[in-house]
Amino acid sequence: MVTDEDRELLEAALEVQKNAHCPFSAYPVGSAVRTQDGTIVRGCNVESASFSLTCCAERVAVFSAVSAGHRRIYSCAIVTIEDRPAPPCGACRQVLWEFGGDVRLVLGNTNGAVRVAQLKDLLPDGFSAEQLDRCTTNTD
Ligand code: THU
Repeated sequence: MVTDEDRELLEAALEVQKNAHCPFSAYPVGSAVRTQDGTIVRGCNVESASFSLTCCAERVAVFSAVSAGHRRIYSCAIVTIEDRPAPPCGACRQVLWEFGGDVRLVLGNTNGAVRVAQLKDLLPDGFSAEQLDRCTTNTD
């Protein structure tokens, strides 16, 4: 079920999608994450002429949230231009997992299609900080 909170997050993702820097793929992506305290933080994909340096919209959003002092993500909206709202790439699944565990994913497109998924269904056995025995802090 798509909630009012999901729709608010999608709106934020749609707005920031306009800032996508994607001259090489022409595939604009907007993302917005809701942190544990309810703050919404946005990100768009930013491409580099050195292609592999490109950063996906979801990671830009999560890293911006972390930079602003947030440590836990509750939900993440992602908007693309595809007919079928697209799921996050594998790298973004991993980062979302580390900062939110079983994040609620709200996947949309510019035509208003929406589907909701849980990260755990897309990333069943994510790597986490507890697996690093030298790590003295974790995000929980
Ligand atoms: N992209 C994202 O922003 N998020 C994803 O989950 C998948 C791909 C971006 C990266 C690149 O700028 C463009 O979409 C095409 O891959």
